[in-house]
Amino acid sequence: MFSSPEEVFEKEKRYLMPTYKRPRIVIKGGKGAIVRDFFGNEYIDCVGGIAVNAVGYCHPEVVKAIKEQAEKLMHVSNLYYTEPQVKLAEKLSELSGMDKVFFCNSGAESIEAALKLARKVTGKHEFIAAEGSFHGRTLGSLSVTFGTKFRSAFEPLLLKGVKFVRYNDAEAIRKVLDEDTAAVILEPIQGESGVRVPSEGYVKAVREICTEENVLLILDEIQTGFGRTGRWFGKDHDGVEPDIMTVAKAMGAGFPIGAMLAKEGIEFESGEHASTFGGNPLACATALASIRVIEGEKLVERSRELGEYFMEEVRGENGLESSPQVKEIRGKGLMIGIELTQPCSELVEKALERRILINCTADKVIRLVPPLVIRKEELDKVISVLYEIIK
Ligand SMILES: Cc1ncc(COP(=O)(O)O)c(C=O)c1O
Repeated sequence: MFSSPEEVFEKEKRYLMPTYKRPRIVIKGGKGAIVRDFFGNEYIDCVGGIAVNAVGYCHPEVVKAIKEQAEKLMHVSNLYYTEPQVKLAEKLSELSGMDKVFFCNSGAESIEAALKLARKVTGKHEFIAAEGSFHGRTLGSLSVTFGTKFRSAFEPLLLKGVKFVRYNDAEAIRKVLDEDTAAVILEPIQGESGVRVPSEGYVKAVREICTEENVLLILDEIQTGFGRTGRWFGKDHDGVEPDIMTVAKAMGAGFPIGAMLAKEGIEFESGEHASTFGGNPLACATALASIRVIEGEKLVERSRELGEYFMEEVRGENGLESSPQVKEIRGKGLMIGIELTQPCSELVEKALERRILINCTADKVIRLVPPLVIRKEELDKVISVLYEIIK
């Protein structure tokens, strides 16, 4: 297709909007937790499509499902019934404890649906979100996303009356609630702002406040869903049932699909919301295969065990966490944040030279969200490279 990576870089510069800052590597393929570049060099991937590639690259069961479904039916209008869509909705309900599903194509779209639905069922228009939150980049989802970095060029944003309160402080929510509040929206663990893990019981306390005050609780499980944190969903650590929940990322193993799930009685009526592609047969068959692999290979348990193993390895007297450059290492399952005392963007390049892909978020936090199929030896290699480059 191209004769050299430089040709790709040049044409990218010429034809694409510069929305992404990319290291100079062209990725051509992958298997498990490994990706291959233009020349066939292999890298251990700790970015995992930003928590998308939970089952790894080119999982045979997912590839087979895509091929089989593509030969039968890729798309038909949502004006007709299809089997994969109904089957996936049933499966999501079984896994999450939610009752009703609306399918879309991305995380931000599922947030849009959630905000719209919360307004409709409550008849109220204001939202409470958390400082440090990230819910997407469309104008609605951006309205509940925190931080000038994401928002300032686009203000005023669409939703008026969004109040941001301190994350990990349930009572702060009660203080700003009023008769116009439709819902509280939260991530069970904040991803983009640096893998910020709240105290045990925080999400439960927020649930109780929402119930007492009669406002809806929307949990954004877009990054935390499908085993990432060592449970099927982040909410399961606190045993909490939200009114509305959003998912995307790992559900489709790399095929774009998102969903908004809600409890019985919280739903759109015919004609109130729609998506042309949302829940099409190819996306749903792929997601069903992805979930089958997560279940069959016990990847939720694996995420928990490998996460615990990682923490054991990096903690302790001589562990990575004890080095002066590291402020804190935190996380749940294979959603791990290494907060440094200095910006970490340079380390992305250093890790790349050592054939490891890592991501730097919130300026000083290395976020590790590798495929859940990553092998223990691969994780050991990652730990030793991190040790080397951070020290
Ligand atoms: C918690 C959370 N919500 C929403 C989104 C937006 O999802 P998408 O990029 O699929 O629109 C993201 C993406 O990183 C996310 O991490």
